Amino acid sequence: MRPEIERLRPHLERARGFSGWDFSDLEVRHLGPPLPWDYEAMVREYARGARSALDLGTGGGEVLARLRDALPPRAVATEEWHVNAPVAYRRLAPLGVDVVRCRSLDLPFADESFDLVLDRHEELAPAEVARVLRPGGRVVTQQVGRDNWRELRTHIPRMTDFGDIFGEYARGFAAAGLRVLRVDQHEERVAFRSLGDFVYLLGVAPWVPDFSLERDGEALLALEAECLTGDGLVLTESRFVIVAEKPA
Ligand SMILES: C[S@@+](CC[C@H](N)C(=O)[O-])C[C@H]1O[C@@H](n2cnc3c(N)ncnc32)[C@H](O)[C@@H]1O
Repeated sequence: MRPEIERLRPHLERARGFSGWDFSDLEVRHLGPPLPWDYEAMVREYARGARSALDLGTGGGEVLARLRDALPPRAVATEEWHVNAPVAYRRLAPLGVDVVRCRSLDLPFADESFDLVLDRHEELAPAEVARVLRPGGRVVTQQVGRDNWRELRTHIPRMTDFGDIFGEYARGFAAAGLRVLRVDQHEERVAFRSLGDFVYLLGVAPWVPDFSLERDGEALLALEAECLTGDGLVLTESRFVIVAEKPA
């Protein structure tokens, strides 16, 4: 394999032992205006008065642990991935959060059992969220938009396409009888320090199915040729938020 591709291997190897959901060592610089919302501040706002909260796909529980002080005593987190469920348990159980290993699309909870459902970057089924919400309860979700890293799709067209989840979720909540209180979408340019850092991210989660340097090395070099600037590897990120409420 060409040395230009082989130099990326240590970054992919580094992804092998990854667990939890903490990328604080990655140094991703935001080049434009920041997101026009702050997910954690929104959760704190909507958690006021809630008596029970559910976090879907908590990862290693890092975000939920930061938010714990704002949440009601009854808090539950779900985590499907066998690697992360124990990581989440170790972090969250001492904080009084129950961790349940289950899919986010098929929740093992009774109807109307939570006042607040949280979901950051985890798939959800709007009707299922509506089912477990109590009347007057709310869902707050931030998601990765369909056009995220669109520069990568040009070079690796088989990159996973999760579809128009913005439209699906907004319409799904409305169809399930929820009132959508807030929707917002944003695209921003971010700079990764190097292609290596980005390869590490691609190695962590299945954004590109069967990702490998053998298969995708040339495409990665083409991406680098197109997107490497004085700021680093510059890509477009896409995010959206939806807040919806079940009528009391
Ligand atoms: C994108 S993570 C977000 C975690 C958390 N909500 C947060 O915002 O930090 C969403 C889900 O993907 C899972 N996940 C991450 N990498 C995975 C992998 N390689 N295979 C299966 N699931 C994975 C996480 O464990 C988590 O349940």
